[in-house]
Amino acid sequence: MSEDLWPPHALDAPHVPDDAEAPAPRACGTGSVTLIIPTFNESGNVAELLRRLTASLPARPPCEVLFVDDSTDDTPAVIEKAAAGCPFPVTVLHRERPDGGLGGAVVEGIQRSGSDWIVVMDADLQHPPHLVPELVGEGTRTGADLVVASRYISGGSRAGLAGGYRVAVSRGATWLAKGLFPRALHGISDPMSGFFAMRRTAVTADALRPLGYKILLELAVRCRPARTAEVPFVFQDRYAGESKSTAREGLRFLTHLAALRSAAPLARMIGFGLIGLSGFVPNLLALWLLTHAGMHYLPAEIVANQAGVLWNFLLIEQLLFRDRRHRHWADRLGRFALLANADLLLRIPLIALFVGRLGLDVLPATALALVTTFVLRFAATEALVYLPRGSRAATVTRS
Ligand code: GDD
Ligand code: MN
Repeated sequence: MSEDLWPPHALDAPHVPDDAEAPAPRACGTGSVTLIIPTFNESGNVAELLRRLTASLPARPPCEVLFVDDSTDDTPAVIEKAAAGCPFPVTVLHRERPDGGLGGAVVEGIQRSGSDWIVVMDADLQHPPHLVPELVGEGTRTGADLVVASRYISGGSRAGLAGGYRVAVSRGATWLAKGLFPRALHGISDPMSGFFAMRRTAVTADALRPLGYKILLELAVRCRPARTAEVPFVFQDRYAGESKSTAREGLRFLTHLAALRSAAPLARMIGFGLIGLSGFVPNLLALWLLTHAGMHYLPAEIVANQAGVLWNFLLIEQLLFRDRRHRHWADRLGRFALLANADLLLRIPLIALFVGRLGLDVLPATALALVTTFVLRFAATEALVYLPRGSRAATVTRS
């Protein structure tokens, strides 16, 4: 879809002024910068932000500001009014459908940008505007593809992070992310930062599937910039309004980590195995309940299996195949349940064999049979339930 968003000739293209409405990409020449600022109800901040940016941004390299707005208040109107006094172009891209929240907004901004550098920052002045030229300058000087404004290196601090609870959550999230992605996040002390500069050529925006807030994590893990640098910054207090992040963002973050971690086929199979293992719990629990209620173990196996199937389906959907849920959910559940029960059909004679011939108890025999049929089920699930990435267009036109 976006192969031609960054045409090789963009650097040499003359600057063509846009018509009034279309927020088209502007290719401005070497060193040009697009500042991408996601906004959600920030009407109290945007005028002051533009005022401070006007004081901070040099005339060269050429800069432009692109607000990607999902507001339900008058933020776009306030931006347009304040933009009149700005020496750089200001565009507001208001989205009717706020797909992907903050992260989705940033990706849309990146896709529309034709500058050499993109800088992502928040609208609430927690990110000091005077650091924008420093971020790009550091990248140019060191040859880095990604420059992160960090709260965790000498000279930086998180002064504006409200409360001990948020500090602890932020620190915990940082450790977790760095533990899961030691290589991709090597040299990035603050992967949760929402303030960074990246060379446009280093971004493969097609590969991005951000979920919620953690866009830097997404860029660092999926695009693997060859070289990174950091600049310290002091995370300020919010200028006006309230933070939009909620406890739900925390849950989204964990889901996001799982999706990033299981993007490789082998990692996905391991994830599938771990989820399958966790399915033992509801399965065996149901089996125990049913057999203790007096049901014969064979029909009890069938019923108990459904508890495991449902558990596995829910986890696999959320954690492993989130971006491949192209079929209708009922179709997916139907296929998944069918495969799992076909698996059970194969398992019943196996269990009977283990119980009858080897003299195993019902529970260990069931566990052994579950493991035996695992690989078969994984291959079939990949092939028959979840269409590969990128096949959405085909499915949509077909249905
Ligand atoms: N377009 C759009 N859509 N913008 C959004 C949305 C959304 O759904 N949600 C939030 N924003 C915008 C806000 O208007 C603000 O400009 C910026 O994204 C950050 O939102 P805040 O609500 O101020 O986030 P925060 O201060 O809690 O979190 C910031 O700091 C964290 C580090 O502690 C962000 O920069 C996080 O990315 C960062 O991890
Ligand atoms: Mn904020």
